Amino acid sequence: MEGKVHIFEHPLIQHKLGMMRDKTTGTKEFRELLDEISMLMVYEVTRDLPTEEADVETPLGPTKIQVLAGMPIGIIPILRAGLGMVNGIQSLIPNSKVGHIGLYRDPETLQPVEYYCKLPADAQNRYLFVLDPMLATGGSASAAIDFIKQRGCTNISLVSVIAAPEGIERMRKDHPDVNIYVAAQDEKLNEHGYIIPGLGDAGDRLFGTK
Ligand code: PRP
Ligand code: URA
Repeated sequence: MEGKVHIFEHPLIQHKLGMMRDKTTGTKEFRELLDEISMLMVYEVTRDLPTEEADVETPLGPTKIQVLAGMPIGIIPILRAGLGMVNGIQSLIPNSKVGHIGLYRDPETLQPVEYYCKLPADAQNRYLFVLDPMLATGGSASAAIDFIKQRGCTNISLVSVIAAPEGIERMRKDHPDVNIYVAAQDEKLNEHGYIIPGLGDAGDRLFGTK
């Protein structure tokens, strides 16, 4: 099925994203904001999950309820910055399993280099949400999804915070079946592959490494 690009316009998400962009926002607050935005995104990202009818007894009698049906969920952060989105999502989907893909972008070639991959054993039978706050050239997300597909997985969505038009285009070309969820589409990439205006280096701001 053809995937779609969803851009969140919710005021709370936009307000928090604005604070993340501010260069004076420190590591603690940046981490908290990413956590909160990720939690708010779950509502929309899970909108199309199937439900089925079940029976329950309220204190006043029997009724029908809707419960989640179909496959369980797996979340796959791309290391490092994707780690900052895991808690927010797991706080609303506590039974999700977590896989990890370690990739870094070579600063010269901008090509992704894989250094780690560990997915849930039953990843093929889960709805998978790949997490990375930044979709810049799209090389990292595209490579991560290649690895996941090579392991037989098919129901994949990408959840990011800021995307460059180049990253979205790359994903549409390489993985047209994958839904993309972002809080903002920014203007462009600079000559070093950074998103403009963006928020800088997400991994460094999240972990305080610069
Ligand atoms: C950043 C970011 C993405 C990638 C995006 O990671 O978290 O994974 O760059 O760029 P792309 O779309 O051009 O591939 P980075 O390589 O800096 O690694 P880090 O998360 O370990 O800091
Ligand atoms: N990775 C980041 O962390 N920020 C960017 O702007 C581009 C890639």
